[in-house]
Amino acid sequence: MTTSEGDSFRRFASLPFYTAVNRRLVEMCGLRPSQTVVDLGAGTGAVTALILETMHPEGGEVVAVEPSESALELARRDLQERWGTVVKFVSGQAENLSRFVQRTADAVVFCNAIHLVEDKRRMLHEVSEALRERGLFAFNSTFFDGAQPPDTMPFYVMWVRRALRIFREENPEMRRNKEERVQARIQLSVDEYRRLLAEGGFDVQHMELCPVEMSLEGLEAISEYELFAKGALPGIPLAMAVDCLKRGVADTFREQNLTSVTRNWLQVVAVKA
Ligand SMILES: C[S@@+](CC[C@H](N)C(=O)[O-])C[C@H]1O[C@@H](n2cnc3c(N)ncnc32)[C@H](O)[C@@H]1O
Repeated sequence: MTTSEGDSFRRFASLPFYTAVNRRLVEMCGLRPSQTVVDLGAGTGAVTALILETMHPEGGEVVAVEPSESALELARRDLQERWGTVVKFVSGQAENLSRFVQRTADAVVFCNAIHLVEDKRRMLHEVSEALRERGLFAFNSTFFDGAQPPDTMPFYVMWVRRALRIFREENPEMRRNKEERVQARIQLSVDEYRRLLAEGGFDVQHMELCPVEMSLEGLEAISEYELFAKGALPGIPLAMAVDCLKRGVADTFREQNLTSVTRNWLQVVAVKA
């Protein structure tokens, strides 16, 4: 994430529905003030803040782990002053988590990022290595097979069609690079996540689909997020993809007379067996 991508993601991350769905997952973990909690894929710190506010560390700490230095810097800027030494910022990723945390974490929270990890078996091994016995692994994602309720599919089809039409009309000479395929497009089903967790040595404690009403503002904001834009319109230069998606979604809302679109978040809390 560059700083401007971080800023655009922060806009999305501050929308009320996003806070609510992440807060629900954090609350499902039942965190206590003395615990050590890892916020994996912390991004610009929106969920780190929720974890800190929920557990009020006393003797415990929150470790924000994030591969993007610029996102981590934004998180540090927002949180360090208020929370001081109870929050730590570590540059790293899920696939090498145990380099930073070893068998000491009470919980690892991984919000809105698991779909980005290519080698999920390795990630689960690393999470397991970072956790103490019976530690919690909580994650959520809206990029899984089942996120889009069947009755919303016509909306998505029309959105992408509108966005592609805008792109073609305004760039008749340009060809999409169809080879480009981003990890965000490879989406696991709920059953596949269940199997992975079982194979990785985790018992599922709680698994739910949380329906969220996405407003036009929310969908425009998510269009600005690089990983989303590249996933929705692969092979189109990023700035153009963002612009086409934002105009495409506004057109589609108008044409289909929509006020919101339902999207499911998968919310999971599992225990190291
Ligand atoms: C959509 S943001 C979510 C940020 C935050 N967790 C939230 O829910 O608001 C996804 C984050 O995951 C990070 N990320 C991508 N690949 C990762 C990996 N392999 N391990 C850990 N984090 C990763 C990205 O840099 C980005 O900051």
